[in-house]
Amino acid sequence: MMKIRKIGLLFLSMLILSLGSLRADEGMWMLPLIQKLNSKKMSEIGFKLSAKDIYDINNSSLKDAVLHFGGGCTAEVISKDGLVLTNHHCGYGIIQRLSTVDHDYLQNGYWAMNHDEELSAKGLTVIFLDRFEDVTKAVMDAMDAAKDPKAKDEAFRTVSDQLTAKAVGDSKYLRARVVSFFGDNQYYMVVSKTYSDIRFVGAPPSSIGKFGGETDNWMWPRHTGDFSMFRIYADKDNNPAEFSKDNVPYQPKKFLTISLKGMNQNDPAMVIGYPGRTNRFMTSYEVKETSEVTNAVTILVRNVRQGIIWSDMEANPKVRLQYASKYAGSANSWKKSLGMNETFAKLNVYERRAAEEKIFSEWVAADPARVEKYGKALSEVKEAIEGRAKLLYISRFYQEALSPIELTSAASRLGPQVERPGREGRTGGGGRPGFQSSPSDFYKDYNVSTDIKVAKALIKLFRDKIPASDLPGFYKIIDTDYNGNIDAAVDALFSNSAFVSEEKLKAAMAGDKNALLKDPAYLVANDISSNMMKYMKDLEQYRTQYAKGQKLYIAGMLEMKAGQAIYPDANSTMRLTFGKVLNYSPKDGVIFDFVTTLDGVMQKEDPKNYEFTVPAKLKELYNAKDFGQYALKDGRMPVAFLTNNDITGGNSGSPVMNKKGELIGTAFDGNWESMSSDIIFEPSLQRCINVDIRYTLFIMDKFGGAGYLLNEMKIVK
Ligand code: ARG
Repeated sequence: MMKIRKIGLLFLSMLILSLGSLRADEGMWMLPLIQKLNSKKMSEIGFKLSAKDIYDINNSSLKDAVLHFGGGCTAEVISKDGLVLTNHHCGYGIIQRLSTVDHDYLQNGYWAMNHDEELSAKGLTVIFLDRFEDVTKAVMDAMDAAKDPKAKDEAFRTVSDQLTAKAVGDSKYLRARVVSFFGDNQYYMVVSKTYSDIRFVGAPPSSIGKFGGETDNWMWPRHTGDFSMFRIYADKDNNPAEFSKDNVPYQPKKFLTISLKGMNQNDPAMVIGYPGRTNRFMTSYEVKETSEVTNAVTILVRNVRQGIIWSDMEANPKVRLQYASKYAGSANSWKKSLGMNETFAKLNVYERRAAEEKIFSEWVAADPARVEKYGKALSEVKEAIEGRAKLLYISRFYQEALSPIELTSAASRLGPQVERPGREGRTGGGGRPGFQSSPSDFYKDYNVSTDIKVAKALIKLFRDKIPASDLPGFYKIIDTDYNGNIDAAVDALFSNSAFVSEEKLKAAMAGDKNALLKDPAYLVANDISSNMMKYMKDLEQYRTQYAKGQKLYIAGMLEMKAGQAIYPDANSTMRLTFGKVLNYSPKDGVIFDFVTTLDGVMQKEDPKNYEFTVPAKLKELYNAKDFGQYALKDGRMPVAFLTNNDITGGNSGSPVMNKKGELIGTAFDGNWESMSSDIIFEPSLQRCINVDIRYTLFIMDKFGGAGYLLNEMKIVK
């Protein structure tokens, strides 16, 4: 009895935390609303910045120094000559593409010693935010006038086109798009400018930039120097231009001042960046679905696929480089899914969401007008989620197990040209920035024998886990022509396809193109994609139903919480999160300090484990205590630190700034104890893991010998 009462109380206090007035640390705030929603609280915490210092559409402000990097990360301008800082894991795919086994910049690091040595990152773009405009009324009016869902889609497209055309005017460089917020309850137009001549300036070796590897990923205490540097080039008028030797370093409207003063517990800290996606309004039904379907399939399939890729990487340095970025992207999401499921259970996320839904339902039931408006919100969501269960499981399996077979996915991308929107401009594995894919880009990183093993294992796994009636047609061929022997069928597929190598593909392209239409890999690819399409189409009705329910639920929540500051879910638009430098207690009796130092790197060193190898030069600097101006007062060399800022994937590389808006670090990860953070913010546990800017400059200067770059920066001590 006592126990139940206690749990009840705990539960209540958790609820109060999640439903009560939002704490300063939680929230991915929209920049145009800072004055209205956050300024007061920010100055209470100690920030010395006005809303206009952060976001001003007429004068330069902090937002002008923050970039959307390659579509999947954030970066910041840190010098008068367009030098850009982001994470090592954000530059990873690019660095890998620029590397060969003989010039392996992932393994050895790289520093350009002058502008001529900067390497063109062909295909990489960075996006500056020009401004946001609230266009809710115009969009809603247009859509309300339309009758059915199809007409509404039409109306949305028409009004978006009008609004964006007007916003861009006759500018050659601006782009605009209309983005939905709060589950289609609000709309903003985002106006931006894209630069595409970006060059790689430098990065530490992986033994620093990825120190701790997959073992330490998503964990604290952390000792990773997760940073890399690039430079933006512009035409002679400082405008965006395609790569040209005549281009010159971009002269920024604003670049961040760097502070070497460091940080103490409770110091104000804020992050501006491009969080990708959160689901803070996720219902209990979706929590269950995410855990039991989405994450479960990811974990199961990736265990198999990664195991195969990994052993090939270990056996062969060439394969190790070829698959480095693909593997890291895959392993990162795999571990995120594992951690999320563990944390869902530990933090009772399902039960807490169910309790919130109960409160919402009671609030709705208390007023007939609310019942009229929101009465169906949760049941629509529930029905959609329950209705799509099997379809989602199967389509997720297609995505995780059949799409990653490289031979067939290459056949559908590189094969005979069929109209397919959005073919180009894909990003690398795990949504990380990469290059546009061309045949030679693909084959440079392709190892046939690895793919054969993966294909065999995944095609078997798919057959084991999917009902026979839902298998794509090629399984029949395996049964009839190969007696059900998947290994034999896959061997035949690979020996008869032209897509196994660039040479064979080129030869096939030069000959009768129609022959490629009969290439077995091309046929299997079409079989897979037409089946996938079918499931996607069947899922569509549930998507519509879900969207309808979710829109109502969020609208109701906004009404229920009227008067409180509420932020919309992340949607790859620029956001600000503010809070402070803060340690945490991962479990009873343990407190994790907010700072790590080079001492910890030496403690973790394990020459036999490539994830924990320490470069000799770093050890020399450590032994000589040669830390220059970057050391802590007590003489130790800082590496990483914690804040309670509210970030997610996409924020990687974001600037962490002090109360004056000076750069003190770069955000690069979240922590294991709060892996459910995309769904629920847990104030006592959720932390943002950052590289200390002093470690970044120390590595660049003392370790990399690229101290000349300091001259173009503005540094305060
Ligand atoms: N967990 C980080 C994120 O999602 C990425 C870290 C990359 N490092 C790695 N070892 N895979 O932002």
